Amino acid sequence: MEDKRISPSSSLVDAKSSVADSSVLQIRGGHSLQGHVRISGAKNSALVIMAGALLCSGDCRIHNVPSLADVEKMGRVLSALGVNLQQSGSVLDVNASQITTSKAPYELVTQLRASFFAIGPILARLGVAQMPLPGGCAIGARPVDLHVRGLQAMGAEVQVEHGICNAYVPGHSRRLQGAKIYLDIASVGATETLMMAATLAEGETIIENAAREPEVVDLANFCIAMGAKIQGAGTSTITIEGVPELHSTEYTIIPDRIEAGTFLVAGAITRSELTLIEVVPDHLLPVIAKLRDIGVTVLEEAPHSLRVLPADSLKATDIETLPYPGFPTDMQAPFMALLTLSEGDSLINESVFENRLRHASELNRLGADIRVKGNAAFVRGVPMLSGAPVLATDLRAAAALVLAGLAAEGKTIIQGLHHLDRGYDQLDVKLQQLGANIERLPSS
Ligand code: UD1
Repeated sequence: MEDKRISPSSSLVDAKSSVADSSVLQIRGGHSLQGHVRISGAKNSALVIMAGALLCSGDCRIHNVPSLADVEKMGRVLSALGVNLQQSGSVLDVNASQITTSKAPYELVTQLRASFFAIGPILARLGVAQMPLPGGCAIGARPVDLHVRGLQAMGAEVQVEHGICNAYVPGHSRRLQGAKIYLDIASVGATETLMMAATLAEGETIIENAAREPEVVDLANFCIAMGAKIQGAGTSTITIEGVPELHSTEYTIIPDRIEAGTFLVAGAITRSELTLIEVVPDHLLPVIAKLRDIGVTVLEEAPHSLRVLPADSLKATDIETLPYPGFPTDMQAPFMALLTLSEGDSLINESVFENRLRHASELNRLGADIRVKGNAAFVRGVPMLSGAPVLATDLRAAAALVLAGLAAEGKTIIQGLHHLDRGYDQLDVKLQQLGANIERLPSS
């Protein structure tokens, strides 16, 4: 695999997104799939672990990095901060010995919300950080107040002016101070920002009502591999004892549980037998439990493998999205696609984000029967879907449309592929290898 240096001016992402924007996915549905699929590294781990590498003044080698537009963008943010990055296939070398500026570029941060999480490590390393606010996005307003309040509790002065979050640590040492922080919401991003900041703070930080997502644990394990002292990641109370510096390390990212869940639904919706390899079944418990409610058989094969079997019939079920270990909001859209073809009435409650049901109207274009009221969607199962042109409105909406397209009779054309490429590592190619009739075509 060719080595690639990521630079802030790299036009690869823009080129990728404009190619994605000018192409469409054509799916001829109604066929079953078959075979094995290897699950890539977790997007949400990769993004935050890349930010976490800012904490270390030595080399970090990160394995199992997925090939995604979002990862490329995060690379450009780090690069703009003076960090040296070298990528070879799924291995990423990050050297943050020189952070040349504390100011992240507006045009990149506003394109990638997760890059705001770098405020924690930059502030911890330099005692100063200027981060543009990420703004809202297609699924909701998504404020960063919990990140800001936590950093303030650790002694940072934080002010938002002209859309920029300016933070600095007063005092001679410029080190953040350990603090006891209670999060109003178990926010994944806020937990990660504050945990990273606390690794280099003076004294002990306790984060109460911390997020318990596997990606939080992955980040904690990465920081521990660099010498951080963190206990309790994966529970609601995380304790971090600050250390003066972190050292070089080599680390492998966990498999992407949302990509794995998407392939389980692909098997279920096309009534196929698929084997997923390189998965952590424990991370998928709420997803597997719901699939079993719907009537789908999911078997744990080897320790890192899952098999989904063709179901005789699919049954309706109710879903409420919740923080981990509840049902993941990122799987809500793919499950909505599946429930459109399940017998009976299902109720989906999206309780994590306020505007994450926009795929319902696009699924209706394929013949689904979904009514949305506030944050609830009522799905009445239909016997079949039929292909149509549709538009992806966000990342997981794009996945839901691909899944529905695989099951629909006839031809589905999906636009808005830049959303899909943000977070799925070659979904169309992997589906092709499983026998799907799916093609990326130039948009006419
Ligand atoms: C992360 C994931 C995203 C996933 C989400 C929930 C990354 C890069 N993204 O997003 O894929 O869908 O977790 O599992 O890891 N909130 C506030 N104030 C804050 C922070 C959050 O009110 O300061 C609210 C949000 O608007 C949202 C809820 O808390 O309603 C949960 O958001 P959060 O867990 O922070 O999601 P992200 O970390 O942004």
